[in-house]
Amino acid sequence: VIDIRKLYAGTGKFSYDPGFMSTASCDSTITYIDGDKGELLYRGYPIEQLAVNCDFMDTSHLLLKGDLPSAAEKKEFVGLVKKHTMLHEQMQFFFRGFRRDAHPMSVLVGTVGALASFYHDALDISDAHHRELSAIRLIAKMPTLVAMSYKYSVGHPFVYPRNDLSYTANFMHMMFSTPSEEYRINDVLVRALDRILILHADHEQNASTSTVRLAGSSGANPFGCIAAGIACLWGPAHGGANEAALNMLKEIGSIERIPEFIKKAKDKDSGFRLMGFGHRVYKNFDPRAKLMRETCYEVLNELGLHDDPLFKLAMELERIALEDDYFVSRKLYPNVDFYSGIVQSALGIPVQLFTGIFAMARTIGWVAQWNEMISDPDQKIGRPRQLFVGETHRDVQIKR
Ligand code: ACO
Repeated sequence: VIDIRKLYAGTGKFSYDPGFMSTASCDSTITYIDGDKGELLYRGYPIEQLAVNCDFMDTSHLLLKGDLPSAAEKKEFVGLVKKHTMLHEQMQFFFRGFRRDAHPMSVLVGTVGALASFYHDALDISDAHHRELSAIRLIAKMPTLVAMSYKYSVGHPFVYPRNDLSYTANFMHMMFSTPSEEYRINDVLVRALDRILILHADHEQNASTSTVRLAGSSGANPFGCIAAGIACLWGPAHGGANEAALNMLKEIGSIERIPEFIKKAKDKDSGFRLMGFGHRVYKNFDPRAKLMRETCYEVLNELGLHDDPLFKLAMELERIALEDDYFVSRKLYPNVDFYSGIVQSALGIPVQLFTGIFAMARTIGWVAQWNEMISDPDQKIGRPRQLFVGETHRDVQIKR
């Protein structure tokens, strides 16, 4: 076995790999992806089994602590998370400083970063207990922050967490309850959102996770590092894709117009891509996309929307693209974002908040990866090299 860390250390050699197409930035025991087979494992467990047999709290425990919890461990873990769902009251003033029409992702970048100011002085990240407490605080407070960013955008009063509910049911309560009407919990819909959280919980060294690791490699405050991850996730090539995929389906509008959009996606000059298609690592079906399609079907059935035109359109678009040589030869398959927008929309989540839901789910992955990195005694500050292609030397000659 070659120890990559030692191979290049001190040799003065480095590789040039823009976009990290084939460079590993770290070693990790958390998530394994086989992009050719379309396989995704969290700590060795297939995503298909986790999505069916576990909930988001089991998955969070697994990612953070390395194993699925026993009944007693789960009780303790969930109890700890519930203890930290509230935000400091002063955070309300922070929210009120934003414009009402601010994008929820910009609000999240700001408010999650602001949490650093509440938990900075006493935080010693070299202490495993402190790191775990930061992780718990982050996963506990994210649903509260995401729901508050929504309530603020629609001008409704903030709804406080209800700790008698499950993690995901409490989030739906904070999103949809109003002073005059308590949201009625529907187990099928809660389960669907919980599955979205499981499927998005971690995905090894994607752009936002790499951002969190790079920011954290300097020893920075974890809340600041997660805020950096949220900023990265916001991009349309990453977490913004589910919003873009849903908007694209709406723009296509009818099955008859699919060929027109397929043609446009194949034309490099059009600048248009099929959103929700393609993935840097998966060169086969994204296993999460299959589970998401199933969830989509369950939710629409539960809500009596079996004939939902967007779902039918999405399935037809998938079928046509997967028979087209352009997509087949480039191994472009639907990714998790292709169906998640339809599910979230059916759950009543506004399009602008989709990436916020993704951030809420991915927080456990970010913080588990950050914890793994900081726990490594050989951890170094991340400092990529560059290939300099500018002027090498010039003398200053100012002509006046
Ligand atoms: N529609 C049309 N053509 C595409 C698409 C697409 N969605 N995705 C890739 N291609 C084409 C490219 O034009 C390129 O063609 P070429 O070889 O003829 O030049 C080829 O497929 C390879 O594409 P790259 O951009 O080199 O692949 P990369 O790995 O860099 O990009 C990415 C992956 C960003 C996800 C890309 O497939 C894309 O833009 N997809 C749409 C956005 C999307 O769905 N993002 C979600 C990602 S999943 C997530 O974040 C959870």
